[in-house]
Amino acid sequence: MRMYDLIMKKRNGAALTKEEIEFMVKGFTDGSIPDYQMSAMMMAVYFQGMTEEETLYLTLAMQHSGDVLDLTAISGIKVDKHSTGGVGDKTSLALAPMVAACGIKVAKMSGRGLGHTGGTIDKLESFPGFSTEISTEQFFENVEKNSIAIMGQTKDLAPADKKLYALRDVTATVDNMSLIASSIMSKKLAAGADAIVLDVKTGSGAFMKAEKDAFALAEEMVKIGKNAGKETIAVVSDMDQPLGEAVGNILEVKEAIATLNGNGPKDFETLCITLGSHMLVAGKAAENEEQAENMLREVIQNGKALEKLAQFVTSQGGDASYVYEPEKFEKAAIIEEITAPETGYVSAVNCEEIGNCSLVLGGGRETKESSIDLTVGLVLKKKRGDFVKKGEVMAQIYGNDRGKTDNAKERFLKAFRFSDKAPEQTAFIKGIVKV
Ligand code: URA
Repeated sequence: MRMYDLIMKKRNGAALTKEEIEFMVKGFTDGSIPDYQMSAMMMAVYFQGMTEEETLYLTLAMQHSGDVLDLTAISGIKVDKHSTGGVGDKTSLALAPMVAACGIKVAKMSGRGLGHTGGTIDKLESFPGFSTEISTEQFFENVEKNSIAIMGQTKDLAPADKKLYALRDVTATVDNMSLIASSIMSKKLAAGADAIVLDVKTGSGAFMKAEKDAFALAEEMVKIGKNAGKETIAVVSDMDQPLGEAVGNILEVKEAIATLNGNGPKDFETLCITLGSHMLVAGKAAENEEQAENMLREVIQNGKALEKLAQFVTSQGGDASYVYEPEKFEKAAIIEEITAPETGYVSAVNCEEIGNCSLVLGGGRETKESSIDLTVGLVLKKKRGDFVKKGEVMAQIYGNDRGKTDNAKERFLKAFRFSDKAPEQTAFIKGIVKV
């Protein structure tokens, strides 16, 4: 088999076979197929597309290019959750303890963030002493005993995807549905869960800006999951403004804790309950979504979800007193208010730009090597549809550097649009995709 012939075949619009895709992924991973040939192939795929079968074969080949976690030693149905990413996305921090408190086993691999705030691991490290660098034995033991453990993604999880994503990133071939769906699902399948619940975002702060593209991606991923023999469900939700109010690592951890106390922002709580109810049904802890929702509300009300977070933090070396006394978390040196420049309804928010403000403050990483300031960020007091008077507080900003804070403030205000009329109400949950 020759890579040249496969490139020509795809360029001319034919479908590649399973063997051809396996040959290509293996060769690219071991270096025998050079970057320039794979780049040409990715561009051919970009223009010709891939069939459902090809997309599945590509996903499976990338899944098996490295370690595939075997969770069968852990009893029960293991359900994983994945978000396509957005601004203020602290969902795992609240959702994982909520579903674990309802009896679902959460065995999760998470990553550090690149971009406007940290990833789940960075946020968890806000708890002094907390570590995700636990051994596989400890990980299994914690999941069996406490129903919850989160460990850092191993280097060997879907290495083909890692290499291919880096190549796509510099060859203008990221935004193809089959390539995005296979990239995400190869990692999810390698992480070993029995069922997968996907949180697909749409809007100005999401990877998929247009709702129809978010649904198309959700459908592609759900089909891959089903064809790979795993129950897969996708929830498509709004990311046209930040999720909840807090953007920034410690601020988001505090908001997740408030949500577990029953005092979280409505949209964030709705998302946790929606994703959680599908996780509970997929994991057979509830018969239907309605029953699942009641169970999730109950573990918030009776404090079991918060207790679960504390148990989880302790089991991975962290100081759980912060769960009960979040005011103990370190604070930024500069805490100021940003006030409205005019009177009117907030008609639109450039969500990505709010994420960039957090990045400017030092809350995210520009490169993998950059360090992250856990204390900085923003807490929004006004969101789309709210009426605001000139001079009223729009947000609180948390910074540690005068120049960066002023820069972020200026950018923050430019991210808002005001209008005399209230904007049309839009649904927060856009839909559920199952097959
Ligand atoms: N996230 C991924 O993991 N892969 C993509 O291709 C796009 C977003």
